[in-house]
Amino acid sequence: MTTAVILISGRGSNMRALVESKPGIDFTGVVSNRPDAAGLAWAAQQGLATRALDHKAFASRESFDAALAAQIDSFRPDYIFLAGFMRILTEGFIRRFPRRLVNIHPSLLPCFTGLHTHRRAIEAGVKLHGATVHFVTPELDHGPILAQAAVPVLADDTEDSLAARVLAQEHRLYPQAARWIAEGRVRFISDDVVRVEGSGVEGDWILSPRDSP
Ligand code: GAR
Repeated sequence: MTTAVILISGRGSNMRALVESKPGIDFTGVVSNRPDAAGLAWAAQQGLATRALDHKAFASRESFDAALAAQIDSFRPDYIFLAGFMRILTEGFIRRFPRRLVNIHPSLLPCFTGLHTHRRAIEAGVKLHGATVHFVTPELDHGPILAQAAVPVLADDTEDSLAARVLAQEHRLYPQAARWIAEGRVRFISDDVVRVEGSGVEGDWILSPRDSP
């Protein structure tokens, strides 16, 4: 069976969606850069192996990333799923795991890379917003897109209401993308483009259903 490690920094709701969806991946460990991440307690309750690696205890980004890579390697995973992992990774780290690092980002990339994506989407007046699952490359929040989910931006949206609508779709999208990986249906067309083979009528995008919040 395909194996994976999940990296988190906080509440870990995407980790939970991944684990609970049973996408055909054996999640062998959860690593957090914050020892107090709420998601770690949940993972431990599920019987998953957890590790906390406090980034503040490291003198440099490189030394933290080297320790993180060693932790990951100890699990020998096929893939590494970033689920709300809020650390910028060094190029050296990313190049260690080519085509094996997967991330979920709360915007329709390549729009709104970085932080505060929901606030910036409202300020920009876009009418569609969403989430993207992509493979990680050295350029921040870029890399081949595996799947996207779009939601409407409503006239009375606040940052919080829009974030909640996107998060509900993240919880559908990430498990779906993980299942496609587990089924071996993800093909790299080039270093920049992946296609999902036989992803059916819905394709590798999801529009929020009418009943979403
Ligand atoms: C999610 O919205 C995720 O897309 C985002 O952080 C949140 C984590 O929530 N990730 C990023 O912004 C990465 N750049 P969670 O801990 O409940 O999954």
